[in-house]
Amino acid sequence: AATRRHEWEVSYQFKSPDCVRKLSATINGQTPGPTIRATQGDTVEVKVTNSLLTENLAIHWHGIRQIGTPWADGTEGVTQCPILPGDTFTYAFVVDRPGTYMYHAHYGMQRSAGLYGVIVVAVAEDPGGEVDGAEPFAYDDEHDVLLNDWWHSSTHEQAVGLASVPMVWVGEPHSLLINGRGRFDCSAAAVPGTCNATSPECAAPVFAVVPGKTYRFRIASVTSLSALNFEIEGHEMTVVEADGHYVKPFVVKNLNIYSGETYSVLIKADQDPNRNYWLASNVVSREPATPTGTAILSYSGDRAPPSTTPPTGPAWNDTMYRFQQSVATVAHPAHVEPPPPRADRTILLLNTQNKIDGHIKWALNGVSFRLPHTPYLVAMKNGLLGAFDQRPPPENYTHQGYDVYAPPPNPNATISDGLYRLQFGSVVDVVLQNANMLAANKCETHPWHLHGHDFWVLGYGIGRFDPAVHPASYNLQDPILKNTVAVHPYGWTAVRFKADNPGVWAFHCHIEAHFFMGMGIVFEEGIQRVANLPPEIMGCGKTKGGH
Ligand code: C2O
Ligand code: CU
Repeated sequence: AATRRHEWEVSYQFKSPDCVRKLSATINGQTPGPTIRATQGDTVEVKVTNSLLTENLAIHWHGIRQIGTPWADGTEGVTQCPILPGDTFTYAFVVDRPGTYMYHAHYGMQRSAGLYGVIVVAVAEDPGGEVDGAEPFAYDDEHDVLLNDWWHSSTHEQAVGLASVPMVWVGEPHSLLINGRGRFDCSAAAVPGTCNATSPECAAPVFAVVPGKTYRFRIASVTSLSALNFEIEGHEMTVVEADGHYVKPFVVKNLNIYSGETYSVLIKADQDPNRNYWLASNVVSREPATPTGTAILSYSGDRAPPSTTPPTGPAWNDTMYRFQQSVATVAHPAHVEPPPPRADRTILLLNTQNKIDGHIKWALNGVSFRLPHTPYLVAMKNGLLGAFDQRPPPENYTHQGYDVYAPPPNPNATISDGLYRLQFGSVVDVVLQNANMLAANKCETHPWHLHGHDFWVLGYGIGRFDPAVHPASYNLQDPILKNTVAVHPYGWTAVRFKADNPGVWAFHCHIEAHFFMGMGIVFEEGIQRVANLPPEIMGCGKTKGGH
Protein backbone atom coordinates (compact mmCIF):
# COMPACT_ATOMS: atom_id res chain seq x y z
CA ALA A 1 0.00 0.00 0.00
CA ALA A 2 1.16 3.50 -0.83
CA THR A 3 0.99 6.81 1.00
CA ARG A 4 -0.67 9.48 -1.09
CA ARG A 5 0.57 12.86 0.08
CA HIS A 6 -1.17 16.14 -0.65
CA GLU A 7 -0.44 19.69 0.42
CA TRP A 8 -3.40 21.98 0.40
CA GLU A 9 -3.60 25.68 0.94
CA VAL A 10 -7.16 26.75 1.64
CA SER A 11 -7.97 30.36 0.78
CA TYR A 12 -10.80 32.61 -0.31
CA GLN A 13 -10.61 33.72 -3.92
CA PHE A 14 -12.97 35.45 -6.29
CA LYS A 15 -14.45 32.83 -8.62
CA SER A 16 -17.30 32.81 -11.11
CA PRO A 17 -18.63 29.24 -10.98
CA ASP A 18 -21.98 30.25 -12.47
CA CYS A 19 -20.60 33.36 -14.27
CA VAL A 20 -21.33 35.54 -11.19
CA ARG A 21 -18.27 36.64 -9.26
CA LYS A 22 -18.29 35.45 -5.64
CA LEU A 23 -15.77 34.88 -2.88
CA SER A 24 -15.26 31.12 -2.83
CA ALA A 25 -13.32 28.84 -0.49
CA THR A 26 -10.66 27.19 -2.65
CA ILE A 27 -8.04 24.47 -2.32
CA ASN A 28 -4.81 25.49 -4.04
CA GLY A 29 -6.90 28.05 -5.90
CA GLN A 30 -9.55 25.61 -7.11
CA THR A 31 -13.19 24.95 -6.33
CA PRO A 32 -14.12 22.11 -6.38
CA GLY A 33 -10.85 20.95 -4.87
CA PRO A 34 -8.68 18.27 -6.48
CA THR A 35 -10.00 14.72 -6.69
CA ILE A 36 -8.17 12.42 -4.30
CA ARG A 37 -7.30 9.15 -6.02
CA ALA A 38 -6.01 6.20 -4.05
CA THR A 39 -6.10 2.42 -3.95
CA GLN A 40 -7.77 0.37 -1.24
CA GLY A 41 -5.38 0.07 1.71
CA ASP A 42 -3.46 3.24 0.93
CA THR A 43 -2.82 5.94 3.47
CA VAL A 44 -3.99 9.37 2.43
CA GLU A 45 -2.12 12.24 4.03
CA VAL A 46 -3.34 15.78 3.50
CA LYS A 47 -1.40 18.67 4.97
CA VAL A 48 -3.89 21.52 5.21
CA THR A 49 -2.84 25.14 5.69
CA ASN A 50 -5.62 27.51 6.65
CA SER A 51 -5.10 30.69 4.63
CA LEU A 52 -8.73 31.81 4.98
CA LEU A 53 -7.32 34.77 6.97
CA THR A 54 -10.33 35.39 9.21
CA GLU A 55 -12.04 32.02 9.44
CA ASN A 56 -11.45 28.68 11.15
CA LEU A 57 -11.39 25.45 9.17
CA ALA A 58 -11.90 21.67 9.41
CA ILE A 59 -12.19 19.13 6.58
CA HIS A 60 -14.24 15.93 6.78
CA TRP A 61 -13.56 12.81 4.68
CA HIS A 62 -17.11 11.75 4.07
CA GLY A 63 -17.60 7.98 3.85
CA ILE A 64 -14.14 7.12 5.19
CA ARG A 65 -14.69 5.38 8.51
CA GLN A 66 -11.43 6.47 10.18
CA ILE A 67 -10.90 3.13 11.91
CA GLY A 68 -8.12 3.75 14.43
CA THR A 69 -7.88 7.45 13.54
CA PRO A 70 -11.04 9.06 14.98
CA TRP A 71 -9.14 12.35 15.41
CA ALA A 72 -8.78 12.62 11.60
CA ASP A 73 -12.53 12.75 10.92
CA GLY A 74 -12.40 16.52 10.55
CA THR A 75 -15.59 17.33 12.46
CA GLU A 76 -15.05 20.57 14.31
CA GLY A 77 -16.45 20.39 17.85
CA VAL A 78 -16.72 16.59 17.70
CA THR A 79 -13.28 15.23 16.82
CA GLN A 80 -11.03 18.28 16.75
CA CYS A 81 -10.58 21.95 17.52
CA PRO A 82 -10.77 24.04 14.36
CA ILE A 83 -7.64 24.83 12.38
CA LEU A 84 -6.97 28.49 13.13
CA PRO A 85 -6.06 30.97 10.39
CA GLY A 86 -2.37 30.56 9.61
CA ASP A 87 -2.17 27.08 11.19
CA THR A 88 -1.40 23.80 9.48
CA PHE A 89 -2.97 20.45 10.34
CA THR A 90 -2.17 17.08 8.76
CA TYR A 91 -4.96 14.58 8.25
CA ALA A 92 -3.74 11.00 7.80
CA PHE A 93 -6.03 8.00 7.40
CA VAL A 94 -6.33 4.67 5.63
CA VAL A 95 -8.84 4.23 2.82
CA ASP A 96 -9.80 0.66 3.60
CA ARG A 97 -12.55 0.11 1.03
CA PRO A 98 -12.85 0.84 -2.67
CA GLY A 99 -15.59 3.15 -3.83
CA THR A 100 -16.70 6.70 -4.40
CA TYR A 101 -16.56 9.17 -1.52
CA MET A 102 -16.20 12.90 -0.96
CA TYR A 103 -14.61 15.47 1.28
CA HIS A 104 -15.86 18.84 2.41
CA ALA A 105 -15.41 21.55 5.00
CA HIS A 106 -17.04 20.76 8.37
CA TYR A 107 -16.85 24.07 10.19
CA GLY A 108 -20.05 26.12 10.49
CA MET A 109 -21.66 26.27 7.06
CA GLN A 110 -18.34 26.56 5.27
CA ARG A 111 -19.06 23.72 2.85
CA SER A 112 -21.45 25.99 0.98
CA ALA A 113 -18.59 28.40 0.22
CA GLY A 114 -17.13 25.87 -2.25
CA LEU A 115 -14.80 23.71 -0.19
CA TYR A 116 -15.40 20.15 -1.40
CA GLY A 117 -14.21 17.45 -3.76
CA VAL A 118 -14.38 13.78 -4.70
CA ILE A 119 -12.44 10.81 -3.29
CA VAL A 120 -12.05 7.79 -5.58
CA VAL A 121 -10.65 4.61 -4.06
CA ALA A 122 -9.75 1.95 -6.60
CA VAL A 123 -9.98 -1.79 -6.01
CA ALA A 124 -6.65 -3.27 -4.88
CA GLU A 125 -5.14 -5.81 -7.21
CA ASP A 126 -2.92 -8.41 -5.61
CA PRO A 127 0.67 -8.74 -6.87
CA GLY A 128 -0.20 -11.90 -8.82
CA GLY A 129 -2.37 -9.74 -11.01
CA GLU A 130 -5.54 -11.42 -9.92
CA VAL A 131 -8.19 -8.97 -8.89
CA ASP A 132 -9.07 -9.09 -5.23
CA GLY A 133 -12.69 -8.30 -4.47
CA ALA A 134 -13.33 -7.64 -8.13
CA GLU A 135 -16.11 -5.27 -8.99
CA PRO A 136 -19.26 -7.07 -10.16
CA PHE A 137 -19.50 -5.01 -13.34
CA ALA A 138 -17.28 -3.89 -16.21
CA TYR A 139 -16.71 -0.62 -18.00
CA ASP A 140 -14.27 0.94 -20.43
CA ASP A 141 -13.67 4.28 -18.78
CA GLU A 142 -15.02 6.53 -16.07
CA HIS A 143 -16.06 10.12 -15.34
CA ASP A 144 -16.60 11.96 -12.05
CA VAL A 145 -19.69 14.11 -11.60
CA LEU A 146 -19.84 16.38 -8.56
CA LEU A 147 -23.25 17.98 -8.06
CA ASN A 148 -23.88 21.07 -6.00
CA ASP A 149 -26.20 24.01 -5.43
CA TRP A 150 -24.87 27.57 -5.28
CA TRP A 151 -25.88 30.93 -3.82
CA HIS A 152 -24.58 34.42 -4.48
CA SER A 153 -24.99 35.40 -0.83
CA SER A 154 -22.01 34.61 1.37
CA THR A 155 -21.89 31.78 3.88
CA HIS A 156 -21.58 34.36 6.68
CA GLU A 157 -24.69 36.14 5.54
CA GLN A 158 -26.56 32.84 5.38
CA ALA A 159 -25.43 31.68 8.83
CA VAL A 160 -26.20 35.00 10.51
CA GLY A 161 -29.59 35.07 8.79
CA LEU A 162 -30.47 31.61 10.07
CA ALA A 163 -29.45 32.55 13.61
CA SER A 164 -31.42 35.82 13.61
CA VAL A 165 -34.87 36.70 14.97
CA PRO A 166 -36.81 36.73 12.80
CA MET A 167 -34.91 34.11 10.85
CA VAL A 168 -33.75 34.99 7.33
CA TRP A 169 -33.98 31.76 5.34
CA VAL A 170 -31.26 31.06 2.73
CA GLY A 171 -33.84 30.66 -0.02
CA GLU A 172 -33.58 28.50 -3.11
CA PRO A 173 -30.15 28.32 -4.79
CA HIS A 174 -29.29 30.70 -7.62
CA SER A 175 -27.67 27.92 -9.65
CA LEU A 176 -27.00 24.20 -9.77
CA LEU A 177 -23.39 23.32 -10.48
CA ILE A 178 -21.93 20.26 -12.21
CA ASN A 179 -18.22 19.85 -11.45
CA GLY A 180 -18.24 23.37 -10.07
CA ARG A 181 -19.79 25.03 -13.09
CA GLY A 182 -23.22 26.46 -13.77
CA ARG A 183 -24.81 29.21 -15.75
CA PHE A 184 -26.69 32.13 -14.23
CA ASP A 185 -28.67 34.39 -16.53
CA CYS A 186 -26.53 37.55 -16.45
CA SER A 187 -29.49 39.77 -17.30
CA ALA A 188 -30.87 38.84 -13.85
CA ALA A 189 -27.65 39.53 -11.92
CA ALA A 190 -28.30 41.58 -8.78
CA VAL A 191 -25.11 43.64 -9.03
CA PRO A 192 -24.27 44.89 -12.52
CA GLY A 193 -20.77 44.10 -13.69
CA THR A 194 -20.39 40.96 -11.54
CA CYS A 195 -21.71 38.52 -14.15
CA ASN A 196 -19.64 37.54 -17.18
CA ALA A 197 -21.38 35.04 -19.43
CA THR A 198 -18.19 34.37 -21.40
CA SER A 199 -15.98 33.63 -18.38
CA PRO A 200 -14.16 30.30 -18.96
CA GLU A 201 -14.91 29.51 -15.28
CA CYS A 202 -18.58 28.95 -16.17
CA ALA A 203 -18.15 27.17 -19.51
CA ALA A 204 -20.26 24.00 -19.53
CA PRO A 205 -18.29 20.88 -18.52
CA VAL A 206 -17.94 18.37 -21.36
CA PHE A 207 -17.93 14.60 -20.80
CA ALA A 208 -16.41 12.87 -23.80
CA VAL A 209 -17.53 9.37 -24.81
CA VAL A 210 -16.56 7.02 -27.63
CA PRO A 211 -19.43 5.31 -29.47
CA GLY A 212 -20.08 1.77 -28.31
CA LYS A 213 -18.14 2.05 -25.05
CA THR A 214 -19.51 1.70 -21.53
CA TYR A 215 -18.79 4.37 -18.93
CA ARG A 216 -18.91 4.45 -15.18
CA PHE A 217 -20.16 7.79 -13.94
CA ARG A 218 -19.24 8.35 -10.30
CA ILE A 219 -21.79 10.84 -9.02
CA ALA A 220 -21.52 12.67 -5.69
CA SER A 221 -23.82 15.32 -4.25
CA VAL A 222 -22.47 17.95 -1.86
CA THR A 223 -25.51 20.21 -2.06
CA SER A 224 -26.16 22.55 0.84
CA LEU A 225 -29.91 22.22 0.54
CA SER A 226 -31.26 20.61 -2.59
CA ALA A 227 -32.34 17.07 -3.30
CA LEU A 228 -31.43 16.50 -6.93
CA ASN A 229 -32.47 14.41 -9.87
CA PHE A 230 -29.70 13.63 -12.35
CA GLU A 231 -30.36 12.57 -15.93
CA ILE A 232 -28.35 12.01 -19.09
CA GLU A 233 -30.54 12.83 -22.05
CA GLY A 234 -31.33 9.77 -24.16
CA HIS A 235 -29.26 7.35 -22.03
CA GLU A 236 -30.52 4.94 -19.42
CA MET A 237 -28.37 4.44 -16.36
CA THR A 238 -27.67 1.21 -14.49
CA VAL A 239 -27.10 1.88 -10.79
CA VAL A 240 -24.19 -0.28 -9.54
CA GLU A 241 -22.70 1.43 -6.48
CA ALA A 242 -24.06 3.47 -3.58
CA ASP A 243 -21.84 5.05 -0.89
CA GLY A 244 -19.00 2.60 -1.64
CA HIS A 245 -21.15 -0.56 -1.73
CA TYR A 246 -22.21 -2.63 -4.73
CA VAL A 247 -25.87 -2.44 -5.62
CA LYS A 248 -28.02 -5.12 -7.21
CA PRO A 249 -28.08 -3.45 -10.63
CA PHE A 250 -31.24 -1.64 -11.63
CA VAL A 251 -31.96 0.60 -14.57
CA VAL A 252 -33.28 4.15 -14.25
CA LYS A 253 -34.08 6.98 -16.62
CA ASN A 254 -32.84 9.39 -13.98
CA LEU A 255 -31.27 9.17 -10.55
CA ASN A 256 -32.44 10.86 -7.35
CA ILE A 257 -29.46 11.83 -5.25
CA TYR A 258 -29.47 13.50 -1.85
CA SER A 259 -26.75 15.59 -0.26
CA GLY A 260 -24.00 13.34 1.09
CA GLU A 261 -24.78 10.40 -1.19
CA THR A 262 -22.59 8.93 -3.91
CA TYR A 263 -23.60 6.54 -6.69
CA SER A 264 -21.94 4.90 -9.64
CA VAL A 265 -24.02 4.33 -12.74
CA LEU A 266 -23.07 2.65 -16.00
CA ILE A 267 -24.10 4.16 -19.30
CA LYS A 268 -23.57 2.83 -22.77
CA ALA A 269 -22.64 5.33 -25.51
CA ASP A 270 -25.10 3.77 -27.94
CA GLN A 271 -27.05 6.77 -29.24
CA ASP A 272 -26.72 8.77 -32.48
CA PRO A 273 -23.05 9.89 -32.36
CA ASN A 274 -23.66 12.85 -34.67
CA ARG A 275 -25.07 15.01 -31.90
CA ASN A 276 -24.41 15.89 -28.26
CA TYR A 277 -26.64 15.22 -25.24
CA TRP A 278 -27.43 17.06 -22.01
CA LEU A 279 -26.43 16.07 -18.54
CA ALA A 280 -29.08 17.65 -16.34
CA SER A 281 -29.49 18.25 -12.63
CA ASN A 282 -32.90 19.34 -11.30
CA VAL A 283 -34.24 20.19 -7.85
CA VAL A 284 -36.77 17.75 -6.39
CA SER A 285 -38.53 17.53 -3.00
CA ARG A 286 -38.69 21.34 -2.61
CA GLU A 287 -40.64 23.50 -5.07
CA PRO A 288 -37.89 24.47 -7.52
CA ALA A 289 -36.95 28.08 -8.23
CA THR A 290 -33.58 27.26 -9.79
CA PRO A 291 -32.89 26.59 -13.46
CA THR A 292 -31.70 23.14 -14.54
CA GLY A 293 -27.96 22.60 -14.06
CA THR A 294 -26.40 21.38 -17.29
CA ALA A 295 -23.30 19.83 -18.81
CA ILE A 296 -22.62 18.21 -22.18
CA LEU A 297 -22.16 14.59 -23.18
CA SER A 298 -20.09 14.70 -26.36
CA TYR A 299 -19.56 11.82 -28.80
CA SER A 300 -17.44 13.85 -31.21
CA GLY A 301 -15.38 15.85 -28.76
CA ASP A 302 -16.95 19.16 -29.74
CA ARG A 303 -18.42 21.39 -27.06
CA ALA A 304 -21.59 22.38 -28.90
CA PRO A 305 -24.68 22.52 -26.68
CA PRO A 306 -27.42 20.22 -27.98
CA SER A 307 -30.30 21.99 -29.71
CA THR A 308 -32.80 20.08 -27.56
CA THR A 309 -34.25 21.27 -24.23
CA PRO A 310 -32.44 19.79 -21.22
CA PRO A 311 -34.43 17.15 -19.28
CA THR A 312 -36.52 18.69 -16.51
CA GLY A 313 -36.67 15.60 -14.30
CA PRO A 314 -39.69 14.07 -12.55
CA ALA A 315 -42.36 16.16 -10.81
CA TRP A 316 -40.62 17.78 -7.82
CA ASN A 317 -43.31 16.61 -5.40
CA ASP A 318 -43.60 13.02 -6.64
CA THR A 319 -42.49 11.52 -3.33
CA MET A 320 -43.45 7.97 -4.28
CA TYR A 321 -41.20 8.07 -7.35
CA ARG A 322 -38.24 8.86 -5.14
CA PHE A 323 -39.35 6.51 -2.37
CA GLN A 324 -39.41 3.60 -4.83
CA GLN A 325 -35.89 4.32 -6.02
CA SER A 326 -34.72 4.30 -2.41
CA VAL A 327 -36.40 0.94 -1.80
CA ALA A 328 -34.90 -0.49 -5.02
CA THR A 329 -31.37 0.17 -3.76
CA VAL A 330 -30.31 -3.16 -2.20
CA ALA A 331 -27.02 -5.07 -1.95
CA HIS A 332 -25.54 -6.89 -4.93
CA PRO A 333 -26.27 -10.65 -4.51
CA ALA A 334 -22.56 -11.52 -4.56
CA HIS A 335 -21.68 -8.82 -2.03
CA VAL A 336 -24.33 -9.14 0.65
CA GLU A 337 -23.06 -8.48 4.16
CA PRO A 338 -25.95 -9.68 6.28
CA PRO A 339 -26.92 -7.44 9.20
CA PRO A 340 -27.03 -8.78 12.75
CA PRO A 341 -30.51 -10.31 13.20
CA ARG A 342 -31.52 -8.00 16.03
CA ALA A 343 -30.64 -4.77 17.75
CA ASP A 344 -29.51 -4.35 21.35
CA ARG A 345 -30.94 -0.87 21.45
CA THR A 346 -33.41 1.14 19.38
CA ILE A 347 -33.42 4.91 19.25
CA LEU A 348 -36.46 6.53 17.70
CA LEU A 349 -35.75 10.09 16.54
CA LEU A 350 -38.66 12.37 15.76
CA ASN A 351 -37.44 15.17 13.45
CA THR A 352 -39.33 18.39 14.07
CA GLN A 353 -39.01 22.05 13.30
CA ASN A 354 -39.32 24.10 16.48
CA LYS A 355 -38.92 27.47 18.11
CA ILE A 356 -36.55 28.44 20.89
CA ASP A 357 -36.82 32.01 22.19
CA GLY A 358 -38.03 33.15 18.79
CA HIS A 359 -35.31 31.28 16.90
CA ILE A 360 -36.38 28.66 14.38
CA LYS A 361 -34.58 25.38 15.07
CA TRP A 362 -34.66 21.70 14.20
CA ALA A 363 -34.91 19.19 17.00
CA LEU A 364 -34.80 15.45 17.65
CA ASN A 365 -37.29 14.32 20.28
CA GLY A 366 -37.61 17.96 21.30
CA VAL A 367 -33.88 18.58 21.69
CA SER A 368 -32.01 20.82 19.29
CA PHE A 369 -28.31 20.04 18.95
CA ARG A 370 -25.55 22.51 19.63
CA LEU A 371 -21.84 21.80 19.19
CA PRO A 372 -19.76 22.17 22.36
CA HIS A 373 -16.68 24.42 22.51
CA THR A 374 -14.53 21.50 23.58
CA PRO A 375 -14.48 18.62 21.08
CA TYR A 376 -16.18 15.55 22.58
CA LEU A 377 -13.31 13.29 21.58
CA VAL A 378 -10.86 15.24 23.75
CA ALA A 379 -13.35 15.91 26.54
CA MET A 380 -14.28 12.24 26.91
CA LYS A 381 -10.87 10.71 26.38
CA ASN A 382 -9.16 13.12 28.76
CA GLY A 383 -11.99 13.37 31.29
CA LEU A 384 -12.59 17.11 30.93
CA LEU A 385 -15.66 17.31 33.12
CA GLY A 386 -18.33 19.86 32.44
CA ALA A 387 -17.31 20.29 28.82
CA PHE A 388 -20.81 19.33 27.69
CA ASP A 389 -24.24 18.46 29.06
CA GLN A 390 -23.87 15.11 30.84
CA ARG A 391 -27.57 14.22 30.55
CA PRO A 392 -28.15 11.88 27.61
CA PRO A 393 -30.73 13.06 25.06
CA PRO A 394 -34.06 11.18 24.86
CA GLU A 395 -34.31 7.75 23.19
CA ASN A 396 -37.85 8.30 22.04
CA TYR A 397 -40.53 10.94 21.84
CA THR A 398 -43.05 11.01 24.62
CA HIS A 399 -46.09 12.31 22.77
CA GLN A 400 -48.37 9.30 22.28
CA GLY A 401 -50.02 9.16 18.89
CA TYR A 402 -47.98 12.05 17.48
CA ASP A 403 -49.59 13.23 14.25
CA VAL A 404 -46.77 13.47 11.69
CA TYR A 405 -49.11 15.22 9.25
CA ALA A 406 -49.79 18.21 11.54
CA PRO A 407 -47.52 21.04 12.74
CA PRO A 408 -45.92 20.20 16.12
CA PRO A 409 -48.50 20.54 18.95
CA ASN A 410 -45.73 21.88 21.19
CA PRO A 411 -43.45 23.94 18.95
CA ASN A 412 -41.01 24.71 21.75
CA ALA A 413 -37.78 22.78 22.13
CA THR A 414 -34.68 22.84 24.30
CA ILE A 415 -31.03 23.06 23.26
CA SER A 416 -28.39 20.57 24.37
CA ASP A 417 -24.91 19.33 23.53
CA GLY A 418 -25.49 16.00 25.29
CA LEU A 419 -24.53 12.81 23.43
CA TYR A 420 -25.58 9.17 23.19
CA ARG A 421 -23.11 6.72 24.71
CA LEU A 422 -23.21 3.33 23.01
CA GLN A 423 -22.07 0.03 24.45
CA PHE A 424 -18.96 -0.92 22.49
CA GLY A 425 -19.76 -3.69 20.00
CA SER A 426 -23.51 -3.38 20.45
CA VAL A 427 -26.00 -3.32 17.61
CA VAL A 428 -28.00 -0.10 17.38
CA ASP A 429 -31.14 0.63 15.41
CA VAL A 430 -32.11 4.21 14.69
CA VAL A 431 -35.52 5.01 13.27
CA LEU A 432 -35.68 8.49 11.82
CA GLN A 433 -39.22 9.81 11.81
CA ASN A 434 -40.08 12.78 9.63
CA ALA A 435 -42.96 15.12 10.45
CA ASN A 436 -44.75 18.25 9.32
CA MET A 437 -42.83 21.50 9.74
CA LEU A 438 -44.06 24.60 11.64
CA ALA A 439 -46.13 25.68 8.63
CA ALA A 440 -49.09 23.48 7.69
CA ASN A 441 -48.74 20.99 4.81
CA LYS A 442 -44.96 21.25 4.61
CA CYS A 443 -42.47 18.46 5.00
CA GLU A 444 -39.21 17.93 3.17
CA THR A 445 -36.61 15.22 2.64
CA HIS A 446 -33.74 14.98 5.14
CA PRO A 447 -30.60 13.09 4.11
CA TRP A 448 -29.05 11.73 7.32
CA HIS A 449 -25.32 11.00 7.36
CA LEU A 450 -23.44 8.90 9.93
CA HIS A 451 -19.75 9.44 10.54
CA GLY A 452 -17.41 6.54 11.33
CA HIS A 453 -19.71 3.75 10.11
CA ASP A 454 -21.88 2.40 7.40
CA PHE A 455 -25.39 1.36 8.37
CA TRP A 456 -27.73 -1.19 6.90
CA VAL A 457 -30.84 0.43 5.50
CA LEU A 458 -33.54 -1.86 6.89
CA GLY A 459 -36.67 -0.13 5.74
CA TYR A 460 -38.61 2.91 4.69
CA GLY A 461 -42.22 3.89 5.23
CA ILE A 462 -44.59 6.78 4.77
CA GLY A 463 -46.60 7.86 7.83
CA ARG A 464 -45.94 7.22 11.50
CA PHE A 465 -43.58 4.39 12.42
CA ASP A 466 -45.21 1.72 14.56
CA PRO A 467 -42.63 -0.20 16.65
CA ALA A 468 -45.09 -3.08 17.07
CA VAL A 469 -45.67 -3.52 13.34
CA HIS A 470 -43.01 -2.15 11.02
CA PRO A 471 -39.88 -4.01 12.20
CA ALA A 472 -41.50 -7.21 10.87
CA SER A 473 -41.15 -5.75 7.37
CA TYR A 474 -37.45 -4.93 7.66
CA ASN A 475 -35.20 -6.18 4.88
CA LEU A 476 -32.71 -8.45 6.70
CA GLN A 477 -31.89 -10.39 3.52
CA ASP A 478 -29.99 -7.97 1.32
CA PRO A 479 -30.09 -4.46 2.77
CA ILE A 480 -27.63 -2.01 1.27
CA LEU A 481 -24.90 -0.55 3.47
CA LYS A 482 -24.72 3.23 3.21
CA ASN A 483 -23.47 6.23 5.14
CA THR A 484 -26.22 8.63 4.05
CA VAL A 485 -29.91 7.89 3.66
CA ALA A 486 -33.03 9.84 2.77
CA VAL A 487 -35.90 10.30 5.18
CA HIS A 488 -38.77 11.04 2.84
CA PRO A 489 -41.53 13.60 3.49
CA TYR A 490 -43.91 12.37 6.23
CA GLY A 491 -41.94 9.13 6.26
CA TRP A 492 -39.58 7.10 8.38
CA THR A 493 -36.30 5.33 7.65
CA ALA A 494 -34.82 2.56 9.81
CA VAL A 495 -31.07 1.88 9.90
CA ARG A 496 -28.89 -0.57 11.88
CA PHE A 497 -25.19 -0.34 12.68
CA LYS A 498 -22.60 -1.93 14.89
CA ALA A 499 -20.98 0.39 17.43
CA ASP A 500 -17.53 -1.08 16.86
CA ASN A 501 -15.42 1.92 15.86
CA PRO A 502 -13.86 3.55 18.93
CA GLY A 503 -14.42 7.28 18.81
CA VAL A 504 -17.04 9.99 18.79
CA TRP A 505 -19.19 10.31 15.70
CA ALA A 506 -21.69 12.82 14.39
CA PHE A 507 -25.00 11.71 12.88
CA HIS A 508 -26.87 14.55 11.25
CA CYS A 509 -28.97 15.89 8.45
CA HIS A 510 -26.61 16.72 5.59
CA ILE A 511 -28.50 19.87 4.67
CA GLU A 512 -26.03 22.53 5.75
CA ALA A 513 -28.67 24.89 7.18
CA HIS A 514 -30.47 22.07 9.02
CA PHE A 515 -27.41 20.84 10.90
CA PHE A 516 -26.58 24.47 11.68
CA MET A 517 -30.11 24.80 13.13
CA GLY A 518 -29.66 21.77 15.40
CA MET A 519 -30.58 18.75 13.29
CA GLY A 520 -28.03 16.26 14.52
CA ILE A 521 -26.87 14.01 17.35
CA VAL A 522 -23.53 12.50 18.41
CA PHE A 523 -22.59 8.95 19.40
CA GLU A 524 -19.69 7.85 21.59
CA GLU A 525 -18.43 4.28 21.62
CA GLY A 526 -15.31 2.58 23.00
CA ILE A 527 -13.65 5.84 24.06
CA GLN A 528 -11.24 3.89 26.32
CA ARG A 529 -9.95 2.05 23.27
CA VAL A 530 -8.96 5.22 21.45
CA ALA A 531 -5.17 5.62 21.31
CA ASN A 532 -3.47 8.71 22.70
CA LEU A 533 -4.81 11.78 21.00
CA PRO A 534 -2.51 13.93 18.86
CA PRO A 535 -2.05 17.31 20.58
CA GLU A 536 -2.69 19.06 17.24
CA ILE A 537 -6.45 18.49 17.62
CA MET A 538 -6.46 20.52 20.85
CA GLY A 539 -6.16 24.19 21.73
CA CYS A 540 -9.79 25.27 22.11
CA GLY A 541 -12.31 25.25 24.97
CA LYS A 542 -11.20 23.20 27.96
CA THR A 543 -8.40 21.56 25.96
CA LYS A 544 -6.24 24.66 26.35
CA GLY A 545 -2.99 23.97 28.11
CA GLY A 546 -2.49 20.58 26.50
CA HIS A 547 -4.49 18.38 28.90
CU1 C2O B 1 -20.61 15.05 4.78
CU2 C2O B 1 -20.90 15.53 8.87
O1 C2O B 1 -20.84 15.39 6.80
CU1 CU C 1 -32.72 18.23 7.03
